[in-house]
Amino acid sequence: MTHQATQPWWKEGVIYQIYPRSFMDSTGDGIGDLEGIRQRLPHLVDLGIDAIWISPIFPSPMKDAGYDVADYCDIDPLFGSLEDFERLSAAVKDAGLKLLLDFVPSHSSDQHPWFLEARQSRDADKRDWYVWRDPLPDGSPPTNWISEFAGPTWTFHPETGQYYLHVFLPEQPALNWRNPELRAAMYDVMRFWFDRGVDGFRVDALENLMPNPDLGDNPPNPDWVESMGPARSHLAVNIKHQPEILAAGRDMRAVANEYDPERLLVGEIYGTTEQLMKYYGENHDAFQLPFNFLLIEAVWEAEPLAGMIRAYEAALPEGAWPNWVLGNHDRPRIASRIGPWRARLAAMLLLTLRGTPTLYQGDELGMENVPIPPEAVQDPWERNVPGQGLGRDPVRTPIAWETGPGAGFTTGTPWLPIDPRPEVAVETQQADPGSMLAFQKALLALRKREKALTLGDLTGVNATGEVLHYRRTFEGRTLAVTLNLGETAAPCPDPGTCLISTHGNDSGDLAPGEGRVLAQ
Ligand code: GLC
Repeated sequence: MTHQATQPWWKEGVIYQIYPRSFMDSTGDGIGDLEGIRQRLPHLVDLGIDAIWISPIFPSPMKDAGYDVADYCDIDPLFGSLEDFERLSAAVKDAGLKLLLDFVPSHSSDQHPWFLEARQSRDADKRDWYVWRDPLPDGSPPTNWISEFAGPTWTFHPETGQYYLHVFLPEQPALNWRNPELRAAMYDVMRFWFDRGVDGFRVDALENLMPNPDLGDNPPNPDWVESMGPARSHLAVNIKHQPEILAAGRDMRAVANEYDPERLLVGEIYGTTEQLMKYYGENHDAFQLPFNFLLIEAVWEAEPLAGMIRAYEAALPEGAWPNWVLGNHDRPRIASRIGPWRARLAAMLLLTLRGTPTLYQGDELGMENVPIPPEAVQDPWERNVPGQGLGRDPVRTPIAWETGPGAGFTTGTPWLPIDPRPEVAVETQQADPGSMLAFQKALLALRKREKALTLGDLTGVNATGEVLHYRRTFEGRTLAVTLNLGETAAPCPDPGTCLISTHGNDSGDLAPGEGRVLAQ
């Protein structure tokens, strides 16, 4: 039972995202699996994170790397079996960690038995579990909507003479959340995993949960440039952030509460800060943590960052808990976005801001985007819109555990190339007290020791030149965080006793890219 005075685990905890295809391969097929995750758990315990979220591991034709689910209640043989899952789950608990799975409610695979049935005929039992519309009189799609991965969001099904909706690939038909039976079936999916002890879900693509074709065409985006990709050429106002999503969010929360209010629901939502805040629900009855991607979109200069942090904090509904993310399996690596010389500083920012941090696998090693030769491309987005940098393979490459062929990741051929530089390998970094890994471990340990860094207030978020600084205070203990984003050395604006530095310094000017946490 939760004691009144204690905080739920997810407020102080750090979430680590595992991209299972690239974590550890135990079978030699070149693709990571559940047993591999189990074998490498000591790395995560050693690192000092608190929870793992595993990207989809369910049966899937893998048209979108598992985000096309053909059975929500089983494990894809590529990753193992339900028994492997149970074994992993038990090991995660033994290690004192929490386990979150990915829940993909907006769409299934076109190979899901529900869709196979729905497409049988217009009055098939499950027809309305998906979104079907008649063609316009000239035969064209019902609306002008463009899919996230390019092309129309509508695919014609000649056998039944209607179009079906898909916000992503044609192989990812949109589920109809306006149908009560579909909703009930999806809540049972949540229960299936809650019954197996999972501590929560990261809920995929939430803003796309309930597109409304009856609202008609989307308007063109006046600010569109080609590098944004075809989907952004229109403002997807009739697809995304429909108000009815909130009721579904409340239902999901209620399902989690059937087990324990501490079961966590993290929502994947891309939108404005104002849109994001709605997903907390009224009276905290929806998602505890609607993913905050502001650092993924940010301009890495002190003043804009300070303003952005203040604005996000100010926008939080009363009592809502913040969260921060630097990267994930969809976005370029943080070290590549802002330069490796500032990757430690970014980690310090992530782990000292107020709110739950989510760390993407490999960022603890400072992994960078890995160039993917055309013949090795896996991501359908890159295939559909080649050469524009939209493809996500470069951020999904396997972890190098060791140096040498296979990098301790696989005995076979890895599904994506592995960064061959010895300095990114876990083995190399473990042996080097000055490594990124050693730094992140020290930072995570400091965060565990200092309540100010987890539960403390956040004040004085400001920029002095290119130095971003703020304070965290808990029960009379104040820590100052000072981060020099600039390319020249700068005075430390808030001196004190240095507890940790990205550069191993403890006094004097901040070096370019240096961050320090100082006790006041
Ligand atoms: C989410 C996932 C992404 C996937 C998409 C469709 O944005 O993070 O990887 O392609 O949803 O499910």
